[in-house]
Amino acid sequence: MSDVQAKTALITVEKLSKKYSTAVQNEWALSDVSLQINRGEMVAIRGTSGSGKTTLLNIIGGLDHQFEGEVHINGKSRSQQDERARSWARNQEIGFVFQHFSLLDHLTVLDNVMLPATLAPPKLERKRAQEIIKEPQKRALELLARVGLSDKSLVTPNELSGGQKQRVAIARALFFEPPLLLCDEPTGSLDSKTGQQIIELFQELHAEGYTVVMITHEDRVSLAARRVIELEDGKVINDYHHDLESKGGVQS
Ligand SMILES: Nc1ncnc2c1ncn2[C@@H]1O[C@H](COP(=O)(O)OP(=O)(O)OP(=O)(O)O)[C@@H](O)[C@H]1O
Ligand SMILES: [Mg+2]
Repeated sequence: MSDVQAKTALITVEKLSKKYSTAVQNEWALSDVSLQINRGEMVAIRGTSGSGKTTLLNIIGGLDHQFEGEVHINGKSRSQQDERARSWARNQEIGFVFQHFSLLDHLTVLDNVMLPATLAPPKLERKRAQEIIKEPQKRALELLARVGLSDKSLVTPNELSGGQKQRVAIARALFFEPPLLLCDEPTGSLDSKTGQQIIELFQELHAEGYTVVMITHEDRVSLAARRVIELEDGKVINDYHHDLESKGGVQS
């Protein structure tokens, strides 16, 4: 890796392999995967069911630390972090968005968005995070305005549509302004119009400088990302960029 690349790399995966403990012999969920994702990229991860997409995202996100190989996020080695360091890194450095939203139904929308404040480590490294934690409610309200849900702050998630729930989940993911958003089929439970609105929101976030990595089965989602990484049987079989023309075609 050159020095220039090293400065911009946010995710570096080297010779990553993973076998679940319940797997039969030679059934590798991931096998010798190497890739680099730079700051500011928007990347779609594609592949058939069982190809290893969620496994890869969970390892990058620090939700799974049982693997072979090296994974560095923001210059830090995942395998050298203990559980507490990984959990704080998840809280501060990564926003997660899942297909089924993962909101807490007994909390209001506002409290769901503020959840990362409750889970935050006692000492925050980043200056921006230190500012945010001083006024968590203000931050949550700003984010709800950002995703167009100011009028829903005091309702519970079961009163929201799927698209609205996903907007709340995105607002929560943005709470500490993490550099990286990891999304596992964020439009997978949404109808096509609502899904399109969510894709446009991710494109706006990408334009603001967020690095976005999203698993998807949908052509329009991977067209919205510039770069597509394709997995098959736990291996990267394709890693390419769409040209701007085809991207423009999708947006229009
Ligand atoms: N918790 C687990 N325990 C055992 N095996 C697992 C577990 N999770 C995934 N696997 C296996 O690892 C492989 C990769 O699974 P993974 O969930 O990463 O696929 P995926 O590409 O996300 O699929 P999908 O598109 O269906 O979500 C599959 O063979 C799967 O059966
Ligand atoms: Mg999956």
